[in-house]
Amino acid sequence: MTGSSRGIGAATARRLARDGYAVTVNCLVNTDLAAQVVSDIKAAGGQATWLQADVADPAAVRALFDLTEETFGGIDVVISNAGIMNTATFAEFTDEAFDRMFATNAKGSFNVLREAARRTRDGGRIITIASTSIRARRATHGGYAATKAVQEIYAGCLAKELAGRRISVNALAPGPTNTDLLDVPPPLRAQAAQMTPYGRIGEPEDIANAIAGLCAAEGEWVNGQLVFANGGFF
Ligand SMILES: NC(=O)c1ccc[n+]([C@@H]2O[C@H](COP(=O)([O-])OP(=O)(O)OC[C@H]3O[C@@H](n4cnc5c(N)ncnc54)[C@H](OP(=O)(O)O)[C@@H]3O)[C@@H](O)[C@H]2O)c1
Repeated sequence: MTGSSRGIGAATARRLARDGYAVTVNCLVNTDLAAQVVSDIKAAGGQATWLQADVADPAAVRALFDLTEETFGGIDVVISNAGIMNTATFAEFTDEAFDRMFATNAKGSFNVLREAARRTRDGGRIITIASTSIRARRATHGGYAATKAVQEIYAGCLAKELAGRRISVNALAPGPTNTDLLDVPPPLRAQAAQMTPYGRIGEPEDIANAIAGLCAAEGEWVNGQLVFANGGFF
């Protein structure tokens, strides 16, 4: 589970551990938070380990998969979740912000899915995290949404490549969710909340629940899809 020291990833790691999975937690810089997620899972009776690894680095991603196989004996579920959001108008976007975001979100996810394709056991699940921003087409979200739109394509193509192995591959697109990544002032959060029939933005646990549903045995038939988990955000 990449990017699981905070936010959606941490909530999902905890949820999947409760569902009985042994989980590898991953971070980029917040090693203390990753270690805390692992401690919490172990304290609750689960199994977990963690590794600092930049998903933009193919060798680091291979090390993450190596650790998981060595520690737990195999890989059944891969969640490519690590991501960053840099927003700016086209006119103001810097090369540095654009390149780092593509390296993390688009290439990073590719690095993870490539290893997942090689190592996920038959009957497993692969999920890559997209975003509702690919439909919302908000000003300043052009670069970010582009890094998320590729996730739908990755999932559809990889699902076909893994034909015959009963591995379901999907892209899951959260809507606005209460994490550090949603770095917007309270009025904009309130506005986003009013854009769902539930009158609130998502919590990380809402997204973890949706991921857990796809990972469950009953989730098998959802395959090669882009699945929105956004409370009906419009
Ligand atoms: N929150 C939303 O509203 C929202 C909506 C739609 C989609 N999403 C997507 O959901 C995913 C999770 O977002 P979030 O809101 O939970 O974000 P978050 O709270 O900012 O957490 C991001 C996580 O990704 C890790 N990370 C960042 N860059 C990394 C890298 N290069 N290598 C490995 N790990 C890295 C971070 O590790 P450190 O703690 O070490 O920095 C952290 O664990 C992202 O792909 C995001 O685009 C979020």
